[in-house]
Amino acid sequence: TASQEAEKCGWHLYLVGGAVRDLLLAEAASGTLMIKDIDLVVDGFHKSADVGAGVELAKALQQLYPAARLEIHGAFQTAALLWHKDPELDSLWVDIATARTEFYPYPAANPEVEASSIRQDLYRRDFSINALALRLTTPRAGELLDFFGGLLDLKAKKIRVLHPNSFIEDPTRIYRGVRFAVRFGFQIEPQTEEFIRYAINSGVYDRTAQENSKTPALQTRLKTELKHILQAPYWKSALHLLDNLGALQCIHPTLNLDAKLLRQLRLLERCLRRFDAEQTLIHWEMRLEALIAHLAPEYRAKVAKNLQLQEDSIKRLQNLASAQTEVMESLPKCESPSQVVQLLRQYDLPMLILIALPSPRSLRHQIWEYLTVLANVQPLLNGNDLKELGYKPGPQYRQILDDMLAATLDRVIKDKTEAREFLAK
Ligand code: CTP
Repeated sequence: TASQEAEKCGWHLYLVGGAVRDLLLAEAASGTLMIKDIDLVVDGFHKSADVGAGVELAKALQQLYPAARLEIHGAFQTAALLWHKDPELDSLWVDIATARTEFYPYPAANPEVEASSIRQDLYRRDFSINALALRLTTPRAGELLDFFGGLLDLKAKKIRVLHPNSFIEDPTRIYRGVRFAVRFGFQIEPQTEEFIRYAINSGVYDRTAQENSKTPALQTRLKTELKHILQAPYWKSALHLLDNLGALQCIHPTLNLDAKLLRQLRLLERCLRRFDAEQTLIHWEMRLEALIAHLAPEYRAKVAKNLQLQEDSIKRLQNLASAQTEVMESLPKCESPSQVVQLLRQYDLPMLILIALPSPRSLRHQIWEYLTVLANVQPLLNGNDLKELGYKPGPQYRQILDDMLAATLDRVIKDKTEAREFLAK
C-alpha cells in the first residue's frame, strides 16, 4: 500500500536500514525473519515546502489504517506509524523519512536536515551493511541499491564505516558497530577500527562523558545503545570488545573491564538467577549499575545522572559508598540473626547486591544468607494473632511485632505457645 500511495504522487519509496540487512542475512541462512521495525525512505518533493513527502505519505497511510498511531517529527521531516499489539501484526513500527542528507554543524550534535536524494540519505548512515536500500516503487521495484559495497561486506562478515568522520559525528556508532559485530559474528574491518581508535583518542568521549548539559541527546542515545547491548544474550562479549577498543571510556575515562569487574559481573548474574528468578529487577540496568559501581565513589552519581538513569538508581549509586562502609563495619560485629536483619533490612535488593559484589567472601555469604533465609522469616505471631489475644491495634503493634520477629529469628521462641508466653512476659 505504501508504494502505491507513493507512486500516486510520483515519489520513489525504499526500504532501508536494518530490515534490508536482516532480510539479506535471513535469505543467506535460508532462515525466516520477523521484522518489527521497518524504515522507509521517500524520495520526492511535496508541494508545500514545510511538509516532507515522508510525513505526507505517513498521513495517507494512517487514513487507510486508522488502527495505526501516527507520530510526526517535524524538524526532521520524519513520521512513524505504530501498530501496537494489533492481533494480526502484534506490534509493528514503521518509520517514514524523507530522503535527506544530515549536515552536522559541529561534531556530536543533532543533525540538521535538508532534502536530498536516496544516495545521500544512505551515505549519512553508519555502516555499509546498514546503507543498503530496496526499491519498493515501480519501475524496478525489488531492485537492491548498494552504493557502498554493503552486500560484499555482508558476505565477508565485515563492519565497515562509510566515512572517516562517522564516529566523530556520532560516537554512539562505536557502540552500534560493536553490537552488530558481536550479534552477527562479524569483524570490525581494520580501517574502521582505526577510525574508532582515532575518535576515542581525539577525545570524542570526554564530550559524551562530561558535557551532559550541552549534548543531552547524545547521552540518551548512548544509554539506548547500552540498553541494547546489556540486555542482549551477547552482552559480555560486547563489553569485552568495547573494552579492547577503549570505548568503555565513553561511560567514564577510568572504566576498564579488569579482572575484578569481570568477577563482579559473573557474581551479579548468579545473584540475578538466585534472588530475582521472577525478574522484578531490570537486569540490564543492574549490569549498568554494576559497571558504574566499579568506578571510584566520587564519579558514580555524576555518571548515572549523565546517562539519565532512573532516580532510584542514581540514589543507590550515590549512597553505595556509605552503605558499603556501614555494612563492612557493622556486619562482622552482629552477634545474632536479629541484628543482621536489623542492619540489612534498611537496604533494598539491588543495593544489597551492589554492596555484596566487591565484598569479601564471608561478608557476601552473610548477605546471601540474609536474602535467602533471614529476610523471609515472619514473626511467630502476626497482627491478627495480637488482635485475637486482645491487644488493641495501634503504634505499639510495630514494636511488639519487631520484638516477636527478633525472638523468632534468634530462636528464643520456637512455636506459637512459646510466642504467647513471650508476649505475656
Ligand atoms: N543509523 C545510523 N546511525 C545511528 C543510528 C542509526 O546511521 N547512530 C541508521 C542505520 O542505517 C540503521 C538505521 O538508521 O540501519 C535504523 O536505525 P536502528 O533502527 O537503530 O538500527 P537497525 O539497523 O534497524 O538495527 P536493529 O536491528 O538493532 O534495530
